[in-house]
Amino acid sequence: MNEKQRLESQQVQSPKDSEEKDYSKYFQTVYRPPSLKDARRRGKEEIKYHDDFDIDERFKGMGNGRKFYIRTYGCQMNEHDTEVMAGIFMNLGYQATETVEDADVILMNTCAIRENAENKVFGELGHLKHLKMEKPDLLLGVCGCMAQQESVVNRILEKHPFVDMIFGTHNIHRLPEILNEAYMSKEMVVEVWSKEGDVIENLPKVRAGKIKAWVNIMYGCDKFCTYCIVPYTRGKERSRRPEDIIQEVRQLAAHGYKEITLLGQNVNAYGKDFEDIDYRFGDLMDDLRKVDIPRVRFTTSHPRDFDDHLIEVLANKGNLVEHIHLPVQSGSSAMLKIMGRKYTREQFLELVRKIKQAIPDVSLSTDIIVGFPNETDEQFEETLSLYREVGFETAYTFIYSAREGTPAAKMKDNVSMEVKKERLQRLNALVNDFSRKAMEAHKGQIVEVLVEGESKNNPEILSGYTRKNKLVNFKGPKSAIGSLVQVKITDAKTWTLNGEMIEAKESVEVM
Ligand code: 5AD
Ligand code: SF4
Repeated sequence: MNEKQRLESQQVQSPKDSEEKDYSKYFQTVYRPPSLKDARRRGKEEIKYHDDFDIDERFKGMGNGRKFYIRTYGCQMNEHDTEVMAGIFMNLGYQATETVEDADVILMNTCAIRENAENKVFGELGHLKHLKMEKPDLLLGVCGCMAQQESVVNRILEKHPFVDMIFGTHNIHRLPEILNEAYMSKEMVVEVWSKEGDVIENLPKVRAGKIKAWVNIMYGCDKFCTYCIVPYTRGKERSRRPEDIIQEVRQLAAHGYKEITLLGQNVNAYGKDFEDIDYRFGDLMDDLRKVDIPRVRFTTSHPRDFDDHLIEVLANKGNLVEHIHLPVQSGSSAMLKIMGRKYTREQFLELVRKIKQAIPDVSLSTDIIVGFPNETDEQFEETLSLYREVGFETAYTFIYSAREGTPAAKMKDNVSMEVKKERLQRLNALVNDFSRKAMEAHKGQIVEVLVEGESKNNPEILSGYTRKNKLVNFKGPKSAIGSLVQVKITDAKTWTLNGEMIEAKESVEVM
């Protein structure tokens, strides 16, 4: 099936003012809403790589005299997708704007990971309706993970018919066609492919910063943790070719970037899908160690695929920082089993032991879900005890949120919201405690800080991050912005450090 046929078979279009629930009669093409069931299938078809993305002659100059605004929700992957969409907009002749009032096109790049992320978007759509009424030529689009869900598309069709475009995470490269269609048609343009597309290498990007950059290494996730919507909204695992990644990092280094963060839903599965080469995440990190860029980070890891070779490579440090984000989700083996995490508490602790043995000064952070269906007090206590045992320095903590279409959403739950909130509070108190302790340990130390700019609250103060990702505020010359400096830590708070910049000449031991 070529791209056009594929598009036609999956395209959905609807009249904006429809009150009907059966949309099929309105479509000239076959009505196929995004389907989580289809998205779940993992086919064997080969992934094709393209570097022939180009703006069609018909669309060049489409944005001349027009401005775009993209609001991004959710994870770094979404932030990076926004950079790609901004790149496409600029190539079409649009200018960026910082305010919705000033924009001719507004995109909401959405997140579906928890219900409150979705509620925020629906709330915002309510506000934007007024803007749309004042400015009928304004184009309003919803894209990102929410757009991959049939229930969301139907809700927008029914309740927010003023939306002009809905497109999915696999359709970003089709933004020029989608915009063109929206300008030409009075109907809502909906283009959501349930199945992932190929890997497209040469999409333009406008990066949000000049010091740190995101670099995708893979797309999708095959883990199917029972609570998680991501494998459905982002499709199957597809790795970028190593040479393309290394070249992108080299180019970023040549442009003066000081830090890159490699992105993937499960970076440890990198390379599993290659059929012609035996090349995994450890190999990629080993190759990136040789690139002349000061810092390389990655997110996010799955403990199950974190192998010994990767640990060995990370232990060589250099530009590979000693901070690992390692989501554990729960400290109870029974919970982990129901969550479909494919490791036990003991296996996780063994992995941590190996990492600490190889990298004694490693800083570990994690993600934890509390209140998964039927989690008992004892099981929750196991999460607290695991947190203490590992000594995580920080964590992102969440109350479980049922996601339609996932196996966990069908589980009966006997835990009340009150209990879940209490558990979250107790966990957060522990997280704060451990963060404060980790920060206190920095007092008197000299750390390397990548200076990102003026502090948010005080333009007299500079701020930046250490290799372990701790935020440091200190006095220093503006000329230091964008460079790596040595800072002596004088004071520690729960989430930030204060310090004094020291002369670069001084011989120092860097933490
Ligand atoms: N409910 C709550 N938290 C979730 N996460 C993923 N899915 C859910 C859900 N349904 C959390 C996990 C994951 C992080 C990105 O979001 O902790 O690691
Ligand atoms: Fe979701 Fe699990 Fe994949 Fe992470 S590894 S994106 S939690 S399914």
